Amino acid sequence: MLIRKIELARELNRMKKCPNQTVQNILKAFLAVRSNTYNQDDKEAFERCENYRNALLKRSEKVSFEIFGLDDEKTMGEICSKAASPKIWCQFLYMLAKKSASQNMLEIGTNLGISGSYLLEATAHNHKSKLITMEGVSQLCNISSRRFSEITNLDRFEIVEGLYQDTFPKILKNPVLFDMHFIDGNHQQEATLEYFMKLKEKTRQQTVFVFDDINWSKGMKKAWKTIQNDKSVLFSIDLWKLGIVITNPSNAGKPTGFKLFLSF
Ligand SMILES: C[S@@+](CC[C@H](N)C(=O)[O-])C[C@H]1O[C@@H](n2cnc3c(N)ncnc32)[C@H](O)[C@@H]1O
Repeated sequence: MLIRKIELARELNRMKKCPNQTVQNILKAFLAVRSNTYNQDDKEAFERCENYRNALLKRSEKVSFEIFGLDDEKTMGEICSKAASPKIWCQFLYMLAKKSASQNMLEIGTNLGISGSYLLEATAHNHKSKLITMEGVSQLCNISSRRFSEITNLDRFEIVEGLYQDTFPKILKNPVLFDMHFIDGNHQQEATLEYFMKLKEKTRQQTVFVFDDINWSKGMKKAWKTIQNDKSVLFSIDLWKLGIVITNPSNAGKPTGFKLFLSF
C-alpha cells in the first residue's frame, strides 16, 4: 500500500512536468476522479447515468446472443452487471472526454449504452461533437438508442449495428477522423491489435486510444504491450484496468510510459 502510494506520487510528479497538453488532460481527469472532485453539472450527469444503470439492473427481459452463434440468453440485468463499465471508470471516461473537449468519439462495444451515456453527457455542451458506437446485438442497439436520444439530439450519436468483421471496414471508410477511441468490445489479442493498427492510420494529429481490460487475459496483456511500444505512440498511461495511448502518425521518438492507480 505504502509502496504504491510512493510510486503513484512519483508518477504524478513525472506527469505534471510533461508539456504535452493531452497528457495534462488525462492527468486532470485522473485527479478529479481520484479526489472525487466534481462540479454540480458533473454530479447531476453521473446521477442520471447511474439511475439508468440501476433501472437496467432490475430488468428481466432476455437478450439473445444468436448473432455470435451462441444459443445463450441473458437478462438485461445480468448483462448490465457483467459487461457495463463500473461507475468509477465511466466517471474517468467522462472527465477525460470533457477535459479533452472531444469532438469525434468512436466506441467499439456499445452494450447497453452505459459508457456511451457518460461520453454523451460529458460532451453535451459541444453541439458539434459526435459519438459513433458499434454493437452486434440488435436488442442492445435498440435500448442504447432510446437512452441516447433521451440525453441528446439524434445527430450527436450513431449506433453502428452488426458484427465488427462487417462494420469495422465501413468505419475505416467513414471520412470522420476520431480524436478519442474507446476500445471495449471483442477483447481478443488479434482483434484489439487490428482495431488499433488500422485506426491509428486514420488520424492526422494526436489522438487518444483507451483500451479496456488490458490485463484481462494473456492475449490482452500481449496486445497492450505491443500497442504501448508501437512507433506511433508518444505516451502510454497504464491504469491496470484501462490502458491509454496518445498517438501521432508522424512520431519518430520512443514512447514515454506512465503508470497510475485509481484505487488501492
Ligand atoms: C464489454 S461490452 C461494452 C460495454 C460498454 N462499453 C459499457 O461500458 O457500457 C462489449 C460489447 O461488445 C459487443 N461485441 C463483442 N464482440 C463483438 C463483435 N465481434 N461484433 C459485434 N459486437 C461485439 C458485445 O455484444 C458487448 O455488448
